[in-house]
Amino acid sequence: MPTPFGALYVPNITPDDETGIGQWTSDEFYRMMHTGVSRDGSLLYPAMPYPQYTQVTRSDSDAIYAYLMSIPPVKQKNREHELRFPYNNRDLLIGWRTLYFKEGEYQPNPKQSAEWNRGAYLVKGLGHCAMCHTAVNALGGSSESKAFEGGMIPNQNWYAPSLTSNREAGLGDWKIQEIADLLQAGISHRGTVYGPMAEVTFNSLQYLSDDDAKAMAVYLKALPQKDNSPPPTSQARLVAPETMELGSKVYAAQCVMCHGAEGKGQTPEYPPLAGNRSITMETPVNPIRMVLNGGYPPGTRKNPRPHGMPPFSHILNDNEVAAVVTYIRVAWGNSGTPVNAKQVNDLRTLLPE
Ligand code: HEC
Ligand code: HEC
Repeated sequence: MPTPFGALYVPNITPDDETGIGQWTSDEFYRMMHTGVSRDGSLLYPAMPYPQYTQVTRSDSDAIYAYLMSIPPVKQKNREHELRFPYNNRDLLIGWRTLYFKEGEYQPNPKQSAEWNRGAYLVKGLGHCAMCHTAVNALGGSSESKAFEGGMIPNQNWYAPSLTSNREAGLGDWKIQEIADLLQAGISHRGTVYGPMAEVTFNSLQYLSDDDAKAMAVYLKALPQKDNSPPPTSQARLVAPETMELGSKVYAAQCVMCHGAEGKGQTPEYPPLAGNRSITMETPVNPIRMVLNGGYPPGTRKNPRPHGMPPFSHILNDNEVAAVVTYIRVAWGNSGTPVNAKQVNDLRTLLPE
């Protein structure tokens, strides 16, 4: 697992007695989930999301433990982490924990419905959504007050949008079913998941029960929206006419067959680009990367054969990518801002060939 501090090697958690967690008791497993302290007493790096898992109940922790103890043991020694000085000193974690770690199981809010509380428990605990959707500070910490306000994911060059801003991924105006579809199926009538979020759906959220998906949707929709700025308006006037012309030409040649002349897509397979905030957010990192890399929504139980988008990095140069991303950010009343060729080039050079 790459981190800004060096490489972490994720340990063996099969029940092998020697190299895995075969000798752990359920008490020790719960202590690790709840406090981030390993069996031998060492402090874990918060790349293991114990700051979120601390909210998980003892009975859910025991269920995970029982499952892990039932899988075939694998004999494979853990690899030493390769962290740079001073991060290789675990004592640093003592200070980090004082600043950022709050131990405690989820406490239901009696003023809210059972469904909302179930959703909050899943989003804050097992879902560990805050791990990405909260800006991470230099020490890898994230503060509760900034929870769900969005941030760049270190070392991955994807932006996890704010879940509390209706200019980003705030879900206040989505239908409950649209949110549940996005999380569980990976596609919806409003947008699809891509990048690291596609992995979250693929590895985890597709297996939610329908009731749990709905509970999460109810909680996410009700998250207070912190962004009270006036409704955004089209920024097309900021764009040079020749850029608009190039952008619309590229769009007509390369994009229109799937996303439609009016940017309405063919939902839920081909997401709409008109009125899609995942394109108009302040940072253009995600739409630039989508055009360069293309992508497939995850294959899920509810959408086993997803339709994909081809990569354009070998077809379009930096200018053309900048123009078409600018075009989709401002066309059809979209309120994004223009993108320049350097922003495209910076991301292109970070991508593997
Ligand atoms: C590994 C990092 C990561 C984790 C963990 C994560 N997300 Fe995301 N999420 C992202 C990124 C990156 C995006 C932007 C890409 C996209 O829109 O699909 C995103 C986008 C979203 C969106 C907006 C989708 C749209 O089309 O507007 C929602 C809603 C969302 N995430 C909810 C969640 C919830 C709920 C959880 C916890 C169950 C979660 N995320 C966990 C990285 C993550
Ligand atoms: C063959 C059909 C196809 C073509 C051609 C295509 N796309 Fe896509 N596009 C898709 C699909 C499918 C997704 C969802 C991918 C995912 O979730 O990983 C998508 C997703 C996107 C997204 C992310 C939006 C979201 O919420 O998921 C953007 C931005 C985008 N396309 C822009 C473009 C642009 C610009 C072009 C032309 C340069 C283009 N696409 C060409 C099928 C296509």
